[in-house]
This record gives sequence, structure tokens and C-alpha cells, in this order.
Amino acid sequence: MLGCGTVGSQVVRLLGEHAADLQARAGARLELVGIAVRDTAGERAPWVPRELLTDDAAGLVARADVVVELVGGIEPARTLVLQALESGATVVTGNKALLAAHGPALHGAAARGGADLYYEAAVAGAVPVVYGLRESLAGDNVNAVLGIVNGTTNFILDEMATNGLSFDQAVALAQELGYAEADPSADVDGHDAAAKAAILASLAFHTRVSIDDVPVTGIRDVTAEQMAQAAESGHVIKLLAVARLNRDARGISVRVHPALLPATHPLAAVRGAFNAVVVEAESAGRLMFYGQGAGGAPTASAVLSDVVAAAGHKVHGGHAPRESTYAQLPVLGPESTAARTQVQIGLADEPGTLAAVAGIYGDNGVSIESVHQQRSDDGVARITIISHVSTEAALERTVAGLAEEPRVHEVISVTRVEGE
Ligand code: NDP
Ligand code: HSE
Repeated sequence: MLGCGTVGSQVVRLLGEHAADLQARAGARLELVGIAVRDTAGERAPWVPRELLTDDAAGLVARADVVVELVGGIEPARTLVLQALESGATVVTGNKALLAAHGPALHGAAARGGADLYYEAAVAGAVPVVYGLRESLAGDNVNAVLGIVNGTTNFILDEMATNGLSFDQAVALAQELGYAEADPSADVDGHDAAAKAAILASLAFHTRVSIDDVPVTGIRDVTAEQMAQAAESGHVIKLLAVARLNRDARGISVRVHPALLPATHPLAAVRGAFNAVVVEAESAGRLMFYGQGAGGAPTASAVLSDVVAAAGHKVHGGHAPRESTYAQLPVLGPESTAARTQVQIGLADEPGTLAAVAGIYGDNGVSIESVHQQRSDDGVARITIISHVSTEAALERTVAGLAEEPRVHEVISVTRVEGE
């Protein structure tokens, strides 16, 4: 094992507590031969065998059949995982950042070394969505994947929606409860979700997708007022990872952004820090994977499922599925990416101003689905406009046009609409 923190220490506990069952399922005894950590003298959970601790991670990798990487981050995890794979050791990792940034190099090393790479824990913790896409849906064609894959941001948005907390109050509560880090940016700015989106899209569409292919908007600009307005119109706002096949353009789009979802959508019911991924497949139809996306024991459950599979292959033969990238679909740019938005603007409450706004939509080829005007007492009307499906680029040009229109006082918010 490399790493013995939140997840690693739970893997060690469960390996010990369930040794007999794991042996029966794997077909061989699983022997933990060493645990590499940064600080061998540091405090550990009582069940961690101190005699197995080492700070020589490379030396440990050189003598293991299965390397469980739970260090996180890029280095030294990348070098150690490459070393393991190239020498033919199976790697089990929960490291979404590493997979999303260096997936091709890792899979390449696995192929060269004849080694297996497992990563169930890298997306949505305990939720078996990697297995679902990689194995259960191997005979189907996926059309779309929509996921709540970051529990911290879902907790924050849920607190804003249900208890009326401001963004800052909700972040502080998430930190107090141990969901958010002291520096919450990886979660609230959407980077963690983007890494998971890249992994999900790669699996769903048999195409290499890296984190650099995923445009990201986090949740810092979502306000309690927007949450309340969403509720009034029968919606919720969730941070979604969205990956879609566009058959006409023969490509895929992958994004992470806050989105309005109808309250009746299955993802709208995902509360607190839970995760869920909806997969829409040609023959299976809509599937939903739901559960705990983080935490020591839930994530350790996913790690151990991979360890049992890896050990089973060592004993009985066989391999994990290889990386599947045969489709090689391009990741589409904004001109070919379908999208819908809700735009809120402050507009001079005078004759002809709404017509000017409608003209900007029309000039950009964007069809308006609904318009709602709030009563204004100060001469500035607040207008909420929801578009029909258009392209990302046309919607961006529309918002730029609105911002330039002198009678539009302010573009208050632009929010994606999903799930209708
Ligand atoms: P922690 O920060 O709790 O633990 C990291 C461990 O790695 C520590 O034991 C640390 O040692 C060790 N470590 C750090 N640097 C080195 C190094 N240079 N050499 C050897 N060991 C080192 O991380 P988590 O357990 O939270 O996460 C582990 C992985 O699992 C990450 O990739 C994360 O993204 C993923 N994951 C985590 C989830 C969670 O809920 N926490 C959920 C899903 C995935 P020391 O103890 O001495 O400091
Ligand atoms: N920080 C992540 C979350 C868990 O809040 O979901 C690790 O991926």
C-alpha cells in the first residue's frame, strides 16, 4: 500500500477484519507486505501494523504483486504507479487527478508491462460506476452521462437550497463537518468533478478524454437568491458533470457546470454529500448509480473490490479490461456543443426593450422557450429567459450581445439548464 490516510487506513482495517472472507473470494490469502507513508513516526490508527510502515515507496513497489496507491496528487504517485505497471504489478488507485491528467501514460505502461489498472474508487467513492461503464455496459452504446460526482459541492448547494445559507456560510459548515478542505478550491471550483468527468467520458465513449478537455464552471457564483428562485420555478441547482454523444457532429461534449434541474429529475433528489450518476444508454435506457462518494470506509469498499478482482486474476488467470479507446471521438468545441441556458437580466422597463432583447436572441439563431418578468418598482425589470436547445457558441454570442445592449442594465446570471 502507498498511503495510509483517510482511505488507506480503512483499507488496512478491512483487510485485517475481513481477511478470511477476502481470501475465500479472491482464492488466495491477501498479504499486506508494506505501507509507504510520508512520516513513519506519525500517529496512526491502532489497527495499522507499525512494523509494515516504510518511507521507501519505490522499494516497496519493487516487491509487490498488487500496489494500492492511495497517496493522491500527481507526484510521487505518477512515478510509483508507472514503476509498478511497467514491472507487471497490478495497480489499484483512487487517484482521479492522476488518471485524468496522465491516463494514456498509465494505460500505456500497463500494456507494456502486461499489468492491470483498476480505479473504481477514483469516481464517486463507493458507487460502482466505473465497473458499470467499463463492464456492465460494455455491450451497449452510451448516449449521455450526467453526474453529481462531488459530495462537498452537493452538500454546499443543498444547504443553500434547503436552509437558505449563503455560499460562504455553507462552505464554512462543510469545513466544520469535515467535507471540505481548509482550501476548498478543488471542490468548489469544479476541478475534482472535472477529473471525474474526464474518466467517466473516457469509459462511456471509448475515447481518451483528459481533464484539459473539460471546460469547468464551479459554484462560487451561485447565490442563495438564485437557489430560492430555482425552487419557485420547480427546479434545483446542482453541480453536474455532463458528457454527451452528439451523433450528428460525430463527437462528444464534456463539461462541469452548475445547472438548473427540474425537481422531478432523479438527480434533484440527491441530497447532502451523496453522489449519483445517471447513464442514458441506447438499449438499457436510463440507469442511476447512487451512494456515498467519499469517506474512508465507503471509498475503501471500492478499493477492496478492485483488490479482490486483481487477486482473483492473479490466482485464476485473466486480466482487467484493457483501456478501450477505439472510437476516438473528437471532443467538440462550443460551435457543436448543444446547450440550454437560463439568463437573468436587469432591463430598462420601457417600451421596446424586451423586443430588443428578443432581437438579440433571434439574431444569434437562439430560440426562446420562456420569458418571465418580475414586477419592477425602480424602472429596472428583472427578466428571466430560458432558451431552447442551441449551441454553446450561439448562447455565448447572445449573452455577449445582451451585455453590449445599452438598455440591458446588467446580466445578472447565466445558468445551464439540464434534464428536460
Ligand atoms: P490522505 O491525505 O488522507 O492520505 C494520503 C496518504 O499518503 C498519507 O498516509 C500520507 O502519508 C501518504 N503520502 C503523502 N505523500 C507521500 C509520499 N511522498 N510518499 C509516501 N506516502 C505519502 O488522502 P486520502 O486517503 O483522502 O486520499 C487518497 C486517495 O484517494 C486520493 O487520490 C484521493 O483523491 C482518493 N479518494 C479519496 C476520497 C476520500 O473520501 N478521502 C474519496 C475518493 C477518492 P502520511 O500519513 O505520513 O502523511
Ligand atoms: N472531495 C471529494 C468530494 C471526494 O467532495 O466528493 C474525493 O473525490
